[in-house]
Amino acid sequence: MQDKIKAAAEHYAKLVENQLARVQRMKEQGDFLDYANMDKIIIGVCGGDGIGPVITNESARVLRFLLKDEVASGKVEFRDIEGLTIENRVAHMQAIPDDVLAELKACHVILKGPTTTPRAGDPWPNIESANVAMRKELDLFANVRPVKVPEQGIDWTFFRENTEGSYALGSNGIHVDDDLSFDFTVTTTEGTDRIARLAYDFAKKNGKTRVSIVTKANIMKTTDGKFLRLCQNVAAEYPEITTDDWYIDIMTAKLIDEKRRRDFQVFVLPNLYGDIITDEAAEFQGGVGTAGSANIGKRYAMFEAIHGSAPRMVAEGRDIYADPCSMLRAAVLLLSHIGYQEESDKLAKALDICTGPDAAMKVTGRNTGCTCKEFGDYVMETVTSL
Ligand code: IPM
Ligand code: MG
Repeated sequence: MQDKIKAAAEHYAKLVENQLARVQRMKEQGDFLDYANMDKIIIGVCGGDGIGPVITNESARVLRFLLKDEVASGKVEFRDIEGLTIENRVAHMQAIPDDVLAELKACHVILKGPTTTPRAGDPWPNIESANVAMRKELDLFANVRPVKVPEQGIDWTFFRENTEGSYALGSNGIHVDDDLSFDFTVTTTEGTDRIARLAYDFAKKNGKTRVSIVTKANIMKTTDGKFLRLCQNVAAEYPEITTDDWYIDIMTAKLIDEKRRRDFQVFVLPNLYGDIITDEAAEFQGGVGTAGSANIGKRYAMFEAIHGSAPRMVAEGRDIYADPCSMLRAAVLLLSHIGYQEESDKLAKALDICTGPDAAMKVTGRNTGCTCKEFGDYVMETVTSL
């Protein structure tokens, strides 16, 4: 028994040491990049797995079209990054192989397709999710997920903490013995403060009047308690914004309360709750296939879909019919992030038209609808006609 306790304590000591080092790195990090004053913005494009390459390349094609003048002048460069595939990751037994990571780090922003996350029972070894690894490696601390359903008065923006919580040590739990296992949840002062500030700054800049902090601080008293308290401290600096706080269980219920849900505007919440509730929220908008997501850090930013790689579509030969909307929504967020707000607004508007009730074509995921490429062409024609 003493041996087991000693082994677990040593494992835990190592985790604490690593997290203390991470806190130090966060403290030393500089400010956000200033894209407007950069000579060149490098956009890396990673297709990922399954339907990833089809929908990502389509989104990149639309981006290249919208930024053609910038590409011609050299202000923007696109780089295709190969090797973020499950086969290559398994061959290296790394969530992100070193050479791929080096290529990613040579970019400023990344457009990334969905990647396979191995789970128990899969044919793949249980390596860490490439998403989670990228968020950690590039310190992409804010996962920003907008959900809009104008006809129902829904206009929400979720600020999901993206590097801590239950995800920080998700692959580093301890099996003490066959009977006892532990996972860990991490909250840091620096990590909470920066996500809270981003959420409140966004609210202020975008004329939002309310921010809702979501935790389970009544039960997870240490980590969620800290998250709530630190968010409330930041809230105090924004007296013009109304702050309220909710527990995740009742918030999940309130999102389906038609009378109450339209009052919510901006949410700030720890990683796991953000993961769960943004799938629920996206469902009101038409499903996870319709939602894009921005992963923002100070030095890097990555834009992706919130859904998986849909290997079944590829197995059934339907990948050419995959819906690129999530990756096109990710492109809307990317354009806005690097300062091309006009292009971002145009693309958003075109997407609203192309997915609206009067759309000239529809992606259905099979040959009853148009192909991914036909839809991309349609979006570009629509942008031009605006
Ligand atoms: C998401 C996804 C990921 C997550 C998976 C694929 C690792 O569900 O981006 O929401 O859990 O964060
Ligand atoms: Mg998720």
